[in-house]
Order: sequence, then C-alpha cells, then structure tokens
Amino acid sequence: MVLAYGVVVLLLLWFHSRRPVNVKFCSSVTSRILWLMNWSTGLSEEEHCTVERRDASLTYAEFIQQYAFSRPVIIQGLTDNSEFQALCTKERLLEEYGERLVRLSTANTYSYQKVNVRFREYVELLLKPQDQDCLGSDTLYFFGDNNFTEWGSLFEKYSAPPFQIPGTSKAYSFGIAGSGTGVPFHWHGPGFSEVIFGRKRWFLYPPEKTPEFNPNRTTLSWLMETYPLLLDVDRPLECTIHPGEVLYFPDHWWHATLNLDTSVFISTFLG
Ligand SMILES: *[C@@H]1O[C@H](CO)[C@@H](O)[C@H](O)[C@H]1NC(C)=O
Ligand SMILES: *[C@@H]1O[C@H](CO)[C@@H](O)[C@H](O)[C@H]1NC(C)=O
Ligand SMILES: *[C@@H]1O[C@H](CO)[C@@H](O)[C@H](O)[C@H]1NC(C)=O
Repeated sequence: MVLAYGVVVLLLLWFHSRRPVNVKFCSSVTSRILWLMNWSTGLSEEEHCTVERRDASLTYAEFIQQYAFSRPVIIQGLTDNSEFQALCTKERLLEEYGERLVRLSTANTYSYQKVNVRFREYVELLLKPQDQDCLGSDTLYFFGDNNFTEWGSLFEKYSAPPFQIPGTSKAYSFGIAGSGTGVPFHWHGPGFSEVIFGRKRWFLYPPEKTPEFNPNRTTLSWLMETYPLLLDVDRPLECTIHPGEVLYFPDHWWHATLNLDTSVFISTFLG
C-alpha cells in the first residue's frame, strides 16, 4: 500500500516536471497531491497569542495612551459588521461583482507584478490553497488596489474602527484570498485589520527589530522553514484574528500575515 502511494507520487512528480510552468496557476505538485488526496495543509493558530486582547470597554483615551504609538492590540466587539458580512458571502459578491475586473498583486514583499482578471475567474480558478513551494512572486491574489468607483457602495456598509489617529485619514484595502496565502514581512503606516470571514494569523516585530526573511518567499514558507528555528528572543508577537475582532498595528511595525482559511478581509490604513 505504502509502496503503491510512493509510485503514484513519483509518477505525478515526473508528469509535472515535464509540463511547462504557468505562473498564473502556480499550484504545483505538492498542492495538487494535497488536493487529490484530500490532505489538509494543517494550518493552525499559534500556541500562545502574544498580542494583547482587549474588549470594547477600551476607551479611546486608553487606546491613544497605551497602544496607538507603541504596540499592537486586538480589540473585540468594537463594531458590528454583521450587515457588511451578509453582503460579503461568495454568492452575493459573485452576483454583484462577478463580471468586474479586479487587479491582483503578487504576494511578495514589494508586490511587483499586477494582473487584471474577472472577479469570477479569480474566485473560481485562482482562489485555492497556497503551495509552500511556490515563490511569493509567482502567487497572485486580490488585496488592495480596489476600484472605489465599483466597490464604493459595498465599502459604505463597512463600519471602520472608530479610533482615529490625529492627523491621519483612512483608506480601505479589501481582499479575498485562499488558505495559506498572505503577505510576507513589510511595514508602512499604522492601521487596523479585520477579517469578515475566515481567520488571519499575524506576525509582528517592532520597528527596531528587522526580521529574518526572504522577500520573495511566501509567509507560509517562512512559517514552515524559518519560524521553527527562531530562538525565543527572536520570536515575533503573534496572534490569529477572527470575525468580530480588529487588530491594530502601529506605524513602522514589521508584519506578515497568513490566511488560515479562505478569508474575506478589510484593512483601514491611517495615512
Ligand atoms: C475531505 O476531508 C474533509 C475534512 O477532513 C472531510 O469532511 C471530507 O469528507 C473529505 N472528503 C473526501 C472526498 O474524502
Ligand atoms: C474603475 O471602474 C470604473 C467603472 O467601471 C471604470 O470606468 C474605471 O476605468 C475603473 N478604474 C480603474 C483604475 O480601473
Ligand atoms: C527577489 O526577486 C527579485 C525579482 O525577481 C530579484 O531581483 C531579487 O534579487 C530577489 N531577492 C532575493 C533576496 O532573492
């Protein structure tokens, strides 16, 4: 039995090695075998969440004093987005936006490549689990680059976290991505991140601690290959957010994300 499996796997490997690589459909040997054999990618939440979690009793003054300029925090129940969630089911989004073009970005730190596809095509063909062996630069997904003319009426239904940082204005970034996808380490201004469906695992380092990572590799490969070798002192702050929670990241904090499930998410950047 084991031998037979081995032979099938070797045949699949051989078959795949003879086919040309197609960047747009970077879902190579391992993911197809996982898919065929119905193995889970085994994506799990962290053992210990090390980002502080607060409930909606956190006041704006406390947020500004304790977190806004110094450390990340997850706030539960800050807003009620159940109406927005109902508009973001796969069926509703396909009905409304199926024939619209969306702009996909590669999942590497500096997001070089952009490709436009019909939203329906993205959902039906490209929204699939990330392959650990695919380069971030060969993996396309939908986040940011939203056409606000087309998506504006949906975003109007979103209740953004009410905590503003003085002197900033907010900009939304909406996306949908398969399990195992995510953006590798990068930093920018402060903001909030929320999942509408699914779960998103976060890894964060303060500005002065540049993480060890290859900007062309995916978060998933970093998690599998680099993360297990980290010394305790080099571990990031980490936590998985669920619907109904928002994560706040301060200015210049390094962060990487990993969608544990197929996820619909929205970030509010404060620039
Ligand atoms: C695949 O795995 C899921 C979850 O473990 C299970 O519910 C489902 O029945 C499996 N499907 C097949 C075709 O084996
Ligand atoms: C956004 O959508 C509108 C309406 O469909 C279209 O006219 C416009 O060209 C789009 N903008 C971009 C940057 O694709
Ligand atoms: C990442 O990819 C870019 C573009 O292909 C390349 O120029 C760069 O050298 C790569 N960086 C690393 C660290 O592999």
